Amino acid sequence: MKHFSRSPECVFYVCCGSKCKKLGGKHLYKQMKGEVKHRHLKRHAQVIKTGCTDRCKMGPIVAVMPRNEWLLQVTEEMAVGLIHEYSKK
Ligand code: FES
Repeated sequence: MKHFSRSPECVFYVCCGSKCKKLGGKHLYKQMKGEVKHRHLKRHAQVIKTGCTDRCKMGPIVAVMPRNEWLLQVTEEMAVGLIHEYSKK
């Protein structure tokens, strides 16, 4: 098995499945990605869009790994706050 030599310390998985997308998931994804870039965190944090995570009623969903935190009904402010919080560590 091979591993990336530069794996990020933190990965934010943003659900962009159809329900979450309607609730703003894709916008959150773009905003979080932009914030990571803006704060020069690309080597440390990564934002990845996923398909449906089977929690549609609580969308939009963001999972933070490796903390295994599943955030529900994430707003724009919460999404940006997550990146800010991470950048202070
Ligand atoms: S579409 Fe996001 S949990 Fe189903």
